[in-house]
Amino acid sequence: MNENRERLIERLLEEHKWVEGVALKYLQNTLTYYITEEVDYKKYINSFIRIVEEELLLPHHKFEEEEVFPLLPDDPLIQELINEHREIEELITRLKQGEGEELTLIRQLVDIIDKHLKKENTELITKLKGEIKSPNYK
Ligand SMILES: [Fe+2]
Ligand SMILES: [Fe+2]
Repeated sequence: MNENRERLIERLLEEHKWVEGVALKYLQNTLTYYITEEVDYKKYINSFIRIVEEELLLPHHKFEEEEVFPLLPDDPLIQELINEHREIEELITRLKQGEGEELTLIRQLVDIIDKHLKKENTELITKLKGEIKSPNYK
C-alpha cells in the first residue's frame, strides 16, 4: 500500500472518531434531552447544525468525495456512499428549515450516520487497503 493511501486511511479513521464522538453523540444527547426535559431542545439542534455545517460533517463528506472515493472509481460501493451523503445532507437541510418533525428527523439522522460510518469503517477501509483490487488500483 503506498504512503499516500495509508495517510488518507489514517485521516479517514481519525475523522470518523470525530463524527462518531461528536456529531453522532450530540444527536443522541439531543434525543435524550428532548425525552427527559422537553424544553429548549432547539438550542441543541441549532448547535448541531453549526457543528455539522462549519466544522465536521460536511467538510468530512467533501474530503471523502474529493480525496478518498476517487481511489475506487469503478466500485459500486462508492455511489452508494455518495447517495448516503446526499441523504444525510437532505435531512440536515430539512432540520434547518424546520420542515417535518424534529424528533423524527434526528432519529433518522442518528440511524443513517451510524450505518454509514460502520459501512465505511468496514467495507470501504477493506477495499482501500487493497484487499479487493480494482483494475485502476493505484
Ligand atoms: Fe461518508
Ligand atoms: Fe466518513
